Amino acid sequence: MGLLAIIGGSGFKSLPTLEQLDARQLETPYGETSAPVTRGRLGEAEILFLPRHGPSHHLPPHCVNYRANLWALRESGADRVVGLAAVGGITPAFGPRVLSVPDQVIDYTYGRAHTLYDGDAGQVEHIDLTEPYCDSLRQALIEACSEAGRAVVPHGCYGATQGPRLETAAEIRRCERDGCDMVGMTGMPEAGLARELGLCYASLAFVVNWAAGKSGSVITMKEIEENLGLCVEQVMAVLTVTATR
Ligand code: HPA
Repeated sequence: MGLLAIIGGSGFKSLPTLEQLDARQLETPYGETSAPVTRGRLGEAEILFLPRHGPSHHLPPHCVNYRANLWALRESGADRVVGLAAVGGITPAFGPRVLSVPDQVIDYTYGRAHTLYDGDAGQVEHIDLTEPYCDSLRQALIEACSEAGRAVVPHGCYGATQGPRLETAAEIRRCERDGCDMVGMTGMPEAGLARELGLCYASLAFVVNWAAGKSGSVITMKEIEENLGLCVEQVMAVLTVTATR
């Protein structure tokens, strides 16, 4: 079996308990990755890690080279990828600090390099994305939550918005009418590209704020950062168990 890779998002430019073994900057057909791919030990297991926004969190969601990142992880031996996702909560079950393993996605992003089939290779494949996440990895994450004693909402629709600004209240109402439970800025094209590359991809989402218009007050970075900090321990506990599965 190949390695488990973890893509860190906001709050996870490194994994606090990862013991680093080495780090490799790979050349990819799609350009530069966000950072070197780190190989390390999480508990008993060897994993790969890549911070999506770069080592100093300098890449906004629309500037992340999702194609290079996923290609480099596969090239480094990953067959399963967990994308960490800080999200805003929309529907009532998705309040701050809730953990979720989403099962659906709606893509509202635009202008991102979102496919490997951009005409250059002279071929097109229309991949199936009916179920956008890999079920076996979703189940592993959900079981790891239970083993680690952490509550989880084991489903949910993730709306991927363009950012880097947060949404308007009307945009969030539209997301809710569409069926979204949570909103984030990086879930797509990451999930679609992972499928194109044949990687088993799932997301571990954690809510860091109520989405725009859902709490009666404006969203502050202070609130987001406080909740991010409070989620780190539970996310690490779940990842550590998942890595051994
Ligand atoms: N909207 C979009 N992305 C986010 C949010 C949000 O409210 N919170 C964290 N990531």
